[in-house]
Amino acid sequence: MLEVVKSGAVVGLDAVEVTIEVDVARGMPGFTIVGLPDAAVQESRERVRAAVLNSEYEFQPSRLTVNLAPADLRKAGPAYDLPIAIGFLSASGQINRQSAVSYYWLVGELSLTGEVKPVNGVLSIAAAAHSAGSSGIIVPAENAAEAAIVTGIDVIPVSSLAQAARFLSDDIVIEPAVSGNRSTERGAEQVDFAEIRGQLEARRALEIAAAGGHNVLMVGPPGSGKSMLARRLPTIMPPLSADEAIEVTKIYSLGGQAKHGRGLIWTRPYRAPHHTISAAGLAGGGKQPRPGEITLSHRGVLFLDEMAEFSQSVLQVLRQPIESKIVTISRANGRVTYPADFMLVGAMNPCPCGYLGDRQRECACTVGRIRSYRSKLSGPLLDRIDIHIEVPRLSQAELMGTSTGETSAAIKDRVIKARAAQAARFGSKTVLNGCMSAKQVRQSCSLSESIVSWLARIVERMALSARGYDRVLKVARTIADIAGHESVELVDVAEAIQYRSADRQRAY
Ligand SMILES: Nc1ncnc2c1ncn2[C@@H]1O[C@H](COP(=O)(O)OP(=O)(O)O)[C@@H](O)[C@H]1O
Ligand SMILES: [Mg+2]
Repeated sequence: MLEVVKSGAVVGLDAVEVTIEVDVARGMPGFTIVGLPDAAVQESRERVRAAVLNSEYEFQPSRLTVNLAPADLRKAGPAYDLPIAIGFLSASGQINRQSAVSYYWLVGELSLTGEVKPVNGVLSIAAAAHSAGSSGIIVPAENAAEAAIVTGIDVIPVSSLAQAARFLSDDIVIEPAVSGNRSTERGAEQVDFAEIRGQLEARRALEIAAAGGHNVLMVGPPGSGKSMLARRLPTIMPPLSADEAIEVTKIYSLGGQAKHGRGLIWTRPYRAPHHTISAAGLAGGGKQPRPGEITLSHRGVLFLDEMAEFSQSVLQVLRQPIESKIVTISRANGRVTYPADFMLVGAMNPCPCGYLGDRQRECACTVGRIRSYRSKLSGPLLDRIDIHIEVPRLSQAELMGTSTGETSAAIKDRVIKARAAQAARFGSKTVLNGCMSAKQVRQSCSLSESIVSWLARIVERMALSARGYDRVLKVARTIADIAGHESVELVDVAEAIQYRSADRQRAY
């Protein structure tokens, strides 16, 4: 007997339909899986056999052949266990309602005892099932909330093979899962800008960064609050749209990091990988490809603390995604593309010992060591960071004081207004000042004669490159958008110059 079951394979952020043909025939007993399966899929034979027997079904010696189609797509991971087992039970006459078996997509790993275990990427697969026109999908119970984010498809949660088989035989009823978190309800952020004392320049710089989508580099001694500031950047970015939330949840579902049992992720991601991370850890990859940190920060913030300590080859990974907002990973058997639209925040000490410019402690570094430390960040990468600021350590009095800063909510309001101004100008919500092309900079930052001549002198003194000049204009445009200025004014440009501290230093 032949049975055909449907499942899905994740490719990049999306999934495609996989058809699983299970044939049970007489002849030499055996169990073969064909159709480009990887090692984990091959091992599925052992899990399926044990799970079937331990679920009190029969596994009579027969010639069992499983074909996974399309044949040219590599099938990876244990998620085909459940569809293969169900296909076998149906083909061997142990489920007698074939129409039901072909009606649902199936996904899930089996344990030897017949339990259904959670797998990665279920949200993408449920979305693919829906767009392929299927009206039902059977998933591991722990992945149900995640799958139920997709509307218009019945998500049937199962925790064992027997339960799935009995459901398909119409012996039991299982209510489709509903995602408790499909509405726009958002969990409260755990941190707030109000907790940061002082640091007015840094707070302002991060507001501008959030408004215009500019990358930021913070230079300051240990303990000055750089990590604290970076951690709070997502709290002043506009809320995720429903589409963005689905995108982010898909990514976390894919990496197996979507908290099992939870629905949509509504908070902007914040990732802070350690400087010992590998290039693959940052970019993503692996045999069964997984998103890296830059994709896990999609729509949110990627914080690189001690940025000068990251290896050159790792930092190199960032350059392309910063421009294109996607990352393409080449592997032996093809390429995958993941989204990678993140705000980069880098932090570093001013010198190897950390105390250069400190009011309380003397720096022990030689000029040569400071130079070589600073030069670890390559020009091309610094070129892609519009805002450079210094974050000095607070004085004891400032730290002990009781004055607290503005709340994240108040700052976020201004960010949202500034983004609306950009959306109106560019006719698109996805273009922000930070990613303007050189041509767009010319078009949207026209300056008066007097500003141009004033700026020319500054540019010469700071030895700004053409790219550096453009970056000043981009930041000035965002400052003008926050202030509600139609065209860029002198105050906007003058402030923007402040955020080129690295160039100011290079100049002396
Ligand atoms: N501006 C600030 N307001 C409130 N607390 C601060 C501030 N700066 C530093 N701190 C305190 O010092 C600690 C270290 O700050 P951190 O952000 O880790 O510094 P850095 O990353 O620059 O080394 C924080 O956990 C916080 O308790
Ligand atoms: Mg820190």
